[in-house]
Amino acid sequence: MTVHLNAKEGQIAETVLLPGDPLRAQHIAETFFENPELHNTVRGMHGYTGTYKGQRVSVQGTGMGIASSMIYVSELITGYGCKNLIRVGTCGSYQPHVHVRDLVLAQAACTDSNINNIRFGAKNYAPIADFELLLRAYRIAQERGFTSHVGNIMSSDTFYHDDFDHYKLWADFGVLAVEMEAAGLYTLAAKHGVRALTILTVSDHLVTREETTAEERQLTFNGMIEVALDAALG
Ligand code: HPA
Repeated sequence: MTVHLNAKEGQIAETVLLPGDPLRAQHIAETFFENPELHNTVRGMHGYTGTYKGQRVSVQGTGMGIASSMIYVSELITGYGCKNLIRVGTCGSYQPHVHVRDLVLAQAACTDSNINNIRFGAKNYAPIADFELLLRAYRIAQERGFTSHVGNIMSSDTFYHDDFDHYKLWADFGVLAVEMEAAGLYTLAAKHGVRALTILTVSDHLVTREETTAEERQLTFNGMIEVALDAALG
């Protein structure tokens, strides 16, 4: 047991999908896992372990934001020996060519969080994805007909900005989309020598204000989960 996870030793698999929302964790386990078992109940941040195509796999909710998700990622790595960590979530597009329902595979993550400034001082660390996981996920997404974009993203601490145009600076430098966790995940994975990737579906658009229906989002989300599982376990 760790401070925020009450799974028993050995109860969590080496490969873990990481949605922010614990109800998404439940949905993933019930839809894609064979014999899912609830392994965490602390704070209602549910996590499940089962098998996918016969291989052990877990899913663990992380909450929103770098601060919350890094707690779970730290404990999964140091307390349970997890080695492949794949965040699955949604993002807001910064680019006209990155449309709602597309996939974004985060090759690297910028951040406005202070967490790496505390760690690295005046120098900037560049948090990046595991290349093998990234390549596998990209190839699988291509084979399955997803429109997928590989590149830089922004992991922001702020969802509601006072200045709506704040994103334009990052968009000018090629950043594809915004979410709230990847930079923390990639930094911790590097520190501990484990593999990490972030796969996102575009749920909203800061440039065009395109939106999706809940049903469309669910369909793309399910396709993305299968890409993540096959990339990690295939
Ligand atoms: N901002 C931050 N995180 C997000 C967004 C957004 O617009 N959309 C989905 N996750």
